[in-house]
Amino acid sequence: MTAGPTRARAPTAAQQLALDLQVSLPAISIEPEWKAQQRLWGHSFHPMCSYLASFPASLSHAFIARYSRPGDVVLDPFSGRGTTPLQACAEGRIGVGNDLNPFAHLLTASKVEPATRAAAMTRLTQLRLGWHADAAEWTSLAGRVTEDPGATMIPSAGSRTTTASPTELVPVEVALAFHPETLGQLLYVRTSLRFDERTDRFLAAAITGILHGKSASYLSELMPNTFSMAPRYVREFAARTAFASPRRDVFDGLTSKLDRLFRQPGPSSEGVALLGDARDVAPRVSEALRARGRPDRARLVVTSPPYLRVVKYGYYNWLRTWFLGFDAKAIDATLDDAHHREPYLAFLRDVLAGLRAVLTDDAVVVLVIGDVETDRGRRIRGGIGLAERAWEQAAAPEGYRLAGVALDDVAAVRKMTKLWGDEAGRATKTDRILVLGATESGRRRALAAASLDIDWTWPPRSLRGL
Ligand SMILES: C[S@@+](CC[C@H](N)C(=O)[O-])C[C@H]1O[C@@H](n2cnc3c(N)ncnc32)[C@H](O)[C@@H]1O
Repeated sequence: MTAGPTRARAPTAAQQLALDLQVSLPAISIEPEWKAQQRLWGHSFHPMCSYLASFPASLSHAFIARYSRPGDVVLDPFSGRGTTPLQACAEGRIGVGNDLNPFAHLLTASKVEPATRAAAMTRLTQLRLGWHADAAEWTSLAGRVTEDPGATMIPSAGSRTTTASPTELVPVEVALAFHPETLGQLLYVRTSLRFDERTDRFLAAAITGILHGKSASYLSELMPNTFSMAPRYVREFAARTAFASPRRDVFDGLTSKLDRLFRQPGPSSEGVALLGDARDVAPRVSEALRARGRPDRARLVVTSPPYLRVVKYGYYNWLRTWFLGFDAKAIDATLDDAHHREPYLAFLRDVLAGLRAVLTDDAVVVLVIGDVETDRGRRIRGGIGLAERAWEQAAAPEGYRLAGVALDDVAAVRKMTKLWGDEAGRATKTDRILVLGATESGRRRALAAASLDIDWTWPPRSLRGL
């Protein structure tokens, strides 16, 4: 294990916390300034749709600004909603995101290969016109679904067919969530959009962000915006409260959402979004970058691997996955969440081993590791000290060099408390951020730039590099 330099002056807040928590790894002198930034700091595409366990764009920026230059490739093999690749593209880097969850892939792709404002608005107008031509049929179909979801078939997502080509049933909780006219519009839009086309995918991602939430800008008020409540809970809640969703216009809601998303110009560079397992990400990244005539190795990785706690990305997003035509159960069956510690560390080791082939020799790898003792009251074995174990059992054996550990205490507590209430706030210790070099030269680069001042002006006055 290699210790990074400690500064002679009084310990910073992060270092003090490290002492309090008896961190056995050396601290790296990176101030967690990302905690001090506004909630929506960063590019206006970031809040496209909420996503569980995502980190703030300001955290990505703290590392992108220190450890990459414009034109460099910045990779996140577990990209989630695309925070790191989007922020990288917005700062003139080539942001590459990979995720095994098709919903995460769609969100990442919509941000790093986005629609232009003009194309999005044109397509929206086209959809609105198409709706007016066929509204009667879709509204009638939605009325039948609302009356008897178990007996009414609808066309599948992305099939671009008419009401006359039904192939699937609507889950009863989906029918409950929307006013019948809103549901009619959603059925029409869901059938019309092609998720493999850039502009349609952008609109689909934007709709997932307004599908449910507790204000008039959302299409259903049945559930909060952060995640979908359990379907059984939703059914019982709707029955107990005689819930009837207010009528919301999908096209008006989407217009307002696009206005918010395009508050800033699109990211200055175009990135890459890949769908697949992080363990074999390297050849897919190289191939995709070469096909685009880009440098084929990443100089920086900023990522948070799946945590030890149970985050079922399909189950907690069932209304969004329904809209997109994805199978929530299939998503949860494939993702690597909810591991116990030893298989988790073996998984992480495999990921780091595979990653090496796509890293430059001076690459810096930043791993945000959740350090969680209990998850919503249930004890998670091996949660504490996970970052230390990740270093010893996954990164060191694969030849990575340790620059140090940075702490992200407040953000973690705030994040968990928001999701699960005070109990989680008490249970969460902290997130720890392992800063590694792919080689000794990467480690030295990590240490040399750790205490640099970062420009937190957003949007940036100019693109700055090291
Ligand atoms: C903690 S989240 C990352 C969130 C991300 N940093 C953000 O800001 O949105 C972990 C991600 O790992 C993904 N995942 C789980 N198993 C995976 C695997 N084997 N390969 C690639 N991605 C996986 C999940 O779908 C999830 O999006």
